[in-house]
Amino acid sequence: MNVSGTLRVPGDKSISHRSLIFAALAEGESRITGILQSADVDSTAAVLRALGARIPDLSADFTVVGRGLRGIQQPAHDLDCGNSGTTTRLMSGVVAASPIQATFVGDASLNRRPMGRVARPLEAMGARVELPPHGGLPMTIRGGTLHNIVWHSEVASAQVKSAILLAALVSGAGARVLEPNKTRDHTERMLEARGANVRAGDDGVTLEAGSSLAALDTAVPGDPSSAAFFAGLAAIADSGELRLDGVCVNATRIGFIEHLRRMGVTILEEDRRIEGGEWVADLVIAPGALRGGSVAERDVPSMVDELPLLACLATRAIGETVITGASELRVKESDRIAATVANLRAIGATADELPDGMRVEGSTRPLRGRVVTHGDHRLAMAFGILGTASGNSIEIDDRDCVTVSYPGFWRDLARVASA
Ligand code: S3P
Repeated sequence: MNVSGTLRVPGDKSISHRSLIFAALAEGESRITGILQSADVDSTAAVLRALGARIPDLSADFTVVGRGLRGIQQPAHDLDCGNSGTTTRLMSGVVAASPIQATFVGDASLNRRPMGRVARPLEAMGARVELPPHGGLPMTIRGGTLHNIVWHSEVASAQVKSAILLAALVSGAGARVLEPNKTRDHTERMLEARGANVRAGDDGVTLEAGSSLAALDTAVPGDPSSAAFFAGLAAIADSGELRLDGVCVNATRIGFIEHLRRMGVTILEEDRRIEGGEWVADLVIAPGALRGGSVAERDVPSMVDELPLLACLATRAIGETVITGASELRVKESDRIAATVANLRAIGATADELPDGMRVEGSTRPLRGRVVTHGDHRLAMAFGILGTASGNSIEIDDRDCVTVSYPGFWRDLARVASA
């Protein structure tokens, strides 16, 4: 397989969700360019609309007129978050701090995902949260004025951190969030750029009580988690070179790129610049002879969404790849440890589940068979990339689930990879 050409991957999913939420909560006009137009971001737009925000149809360039921190209204129906954990958890903070009652619902995958991690801090701040016995959705929140909080999060989760910061912001309370490992910091960056009184250090984030939020334009950079698939494609190609323009290279998001370099892939970074408060660069990737290696707990947050892809690429490496400290993968859109290992085995690779990760052995034998995605977009794309490697032939049961984060994925793949 040969790779060639230049891609501009779609806008970053995390920043896209946040750009809508902050634009809706600010007072005044915010212009948003380059937002990811996908099912997950549509879920956030729909939930904000149900809460009274005026969010137009998403397009490459549009403006949101915010209603201010007190503008959230009682919804007329349940808040349908579809497949999106980010929508549910971030918006749970907004709802908890508003004088309304709302019920979050989602698809079968989202219904199973743990919500106690946001319910507990929001209750500690004074909101009332009801969860079903299994701890997932539907989740009903009765919001109101909240108290200050210092929260030691048990899980390294940017969604939990953001839910607490948003709850504090909307209710005018103060919050300090400490996490076991530093997670993506887009919420902190975007709060600071909008004038909120926020301080972030290696040990945690503090938002002062009474912080305000100014309207601000956002240019959404390319999503490093989407770019990762194409960096992986170039890494396992036989020949060629791929350029990925305008990728967000925020330090909390580039664990996968750094790991690929440790595996032996040359990735050049060109024109490193700041766009909309985030570091952005153009990446140039060429095939390399891959070596296995390990990923430990402290590395996980900066590459959490890329780990199924890493496991797929590990089948093409020399030696073994061991991922540990990644039990969070079990509560993503699917149990990504069980599903990745089962699918790797189904196509003939050697892989084992660990309680908190997986072990994958590299080989040169062709991998063939059918992959069951469980509707998980990242599994579909990871195995889609592996399927293009020379000698492999992999059928994906549900190619359409990529609409969650990258609707044009298969078209882009066909454009840059050739036999
Ligand atoms: C996200 C945080 C991560 C990530 C998800 C997006 C965010 O989830 O997996 O795709 O935008 O804050 P966790 O916070 O649950 O680790």
